[in-house]
Amino acid sequence: MEFIVYEQKGGYGIITISREKALNALNSTVLDELDQTLDAVNLDEVRCLILTGAGQKSFVAGADIGEMSTLTKAEGEAFGKKGNDVFRKLETFPIPVIAAINGFALGGGCEISMSCDFRICSDNAVFGQPEVGLGITPGFGGTQRLARLVGAGMAKQMIYTARNIKADEALRIGLVNAVYTQEELMPAAEKMAAGIAKNAPIAVRNCKKAINEGLDAAMDEAIVIEEKLFGDCFETEDQKYGMAFFLDKNKEKVKEPFKNC
Ligand code: CAA
Repeated sequence: MEFIVYEQKGGYGIITISREKALNALNSTVLDELDQTLDAVNLDEVRCLILTGAGQKSFVAGADIGEMSTLTKAEGEAFGKKGNDVFRKLETFPIPVIAAINGFALGGGCEISMSCDFRICSDNAVFGQPEVGLGITPGFGGTQRLARLVGAGMAKQMIYTARNIKADEALRIGLVNAVYTQEELMPAAEKMAAGIAKNAPIAVRNCKKAINEGLDAAMDEAIVIEEKLFGDCFETEDQKYGMAFFLDKNKEKVKEPFKNC
């Protein structure tokens, strides 16, 4: 891989977009490699992913403006689809993905972070959808996911004005869950990933599926999605072990790792 570094650390994996010279901007190769990296994650072992950018300055500074500058209408649509397909794969990936945003998250950078399950960032992070200043719309899901995350009014303000916001404002509007110093960001992300990886993996996956699919459905249908996924857990060894461990009053007993079955 030229632009993606993948490292598995026990129960979680770290995907780093590594194109530092262009502030980790997303060209077609980065998107293809990200797609291949997701396909290669060992889901028998890995229970959570972290997505971050290489270096101290930028998470992802957007889609590659050089590559987009000469696109035709049809090519522009195809480039949008390429990004959307990978981001949707990330969004519906069976295990949780934490975006650890270590600097600029502009355009496609903000958009890829919004395809993750949740976002944490460093205090130098900057978010924005600058596309209308370049003569285009956000094209990798920004018009859809930003409105769903922070509400239509705030999303429209950010997108129409193309104004960047800093980490503290991103926290205030609920775009990120927490802000850390640059040094603390990755340790915090890894601690969260390890914490998620310790929990019953099928239950965690079912939670992700229930939340994602339920948000796209009306409440009557959404609650049935939950019931089904809740019921499925009772066929797992992990449920049997987790509940038996709680009910066992032997305080000396140490909890075993969940088996993912
Ligand atoms: N595409 C291509 N190259 C980019 C890039 C991008 N999105 N962002 C930065 N770079 C490149 C620069 O061209 C520069 O390359 P050279 O060294 O070869 O000149 C290098 O990264 C460093 O960037 P700067 O010199 O500009 O660094 P800076 O510190 O002065 O500014 C910045 C940083 C404010 C992030 C600035 O680079 C910038 O504004 N980048 C563009 C941000 C942007 O508009 N993103 C949205 C893209 S459109 C999009 O994403 C569409 C979509 O929804 C699909």
